[in-house]
Amino acid sequence: MRKKIVAGNWKMNKSWPEAQALVHALIEKKAMIPAGVQVIIAPPAPYLQPLSVAAAPAIAVAAQNCSQHDSGAYTGEISSVMLASMHVNICIIGHSERRQFYGENNEIIRTKVDACLRNAITPIFCCGELLAERNAGEHFTTVAAQVKDALFHLSAEEVSKVVIAYEPVWAIGTGVTASNEQAEEMHAFIRAFVSKNYNQDVADSISILYGGSVNAANAAELFACPNVDGGLVGGASLKADDFMTIIQAAQ
Ligand code: 13P
Repeated sequence: MRKKIVAGNWKMNKSWPEAQALVHALIEKKAMIPAGVQVIIAPPAPYLQPLSVAAAPAIAVAAQNCSQHDSGAYTGEISSVMLASMHVNICIIGHSERRQFYGENNEIIRTKVDACLRNAITPIFCCGELLAERNAGEHFTTVAAQVKDALFHLSAEEVSKVVIAYEPVWAIGTGVTASNEQAEEMHAFIRAFVSKNYNQDVADSISILYGGSVNAANAAELFACPNVDGGLVGGASLKADDFMTIIQAAQ
């Protein structure tokens, strides 16, 4: 079943004391989390294990990235085997910043999705077009290629375990949110595309999150769109009050 999810991607922000203070502030307000909304935070890797203990069970913790390999001579990398062994069971894969700054293409992202699934980690698979692609009318073909290349080799059972995050690159960190219509149109397109390749049951089991300048003021409208199952939130997840308002908007 599709479930409502609000995930906070902290990116490369917060010192350790700041990270602890933010989780403490969120946990103090945990009674405000609506029943049926899964809350996830994705802090920087060094904080994953201690914060997963501090945040549990109200809030789950996700990694922001992992290697496509399980172990070996890959200096600086963190594997999904390691995450699973630390009880970190969710990982963001293919964020546009990984695509843009670290050369991750659809092929690499596909192998990272596979690494997550073979180690029982839920991938939050990110897709989304550049502004130039939208302006050229290529946003549907771009997103379709990303989804197809990274996911459509999976079995129906496997793909049902994936969370998809649609994050138009032009909306990330810009303050320019996709309109409700733009978000709903793309989410409906992605769900129909999954349905066509698998079936409607599979499409109806996948949560599709919206990301890109979600804030306390616009979250309720975006999350009210029929095919938007919550959000992947960057900047606004760094403030406890704003993030909690966004979580409540997913009700
Ligand atoms: P902002 O919410 O800061 O635009 O970031 C979105 C994002 O990239 C979440 O992964």
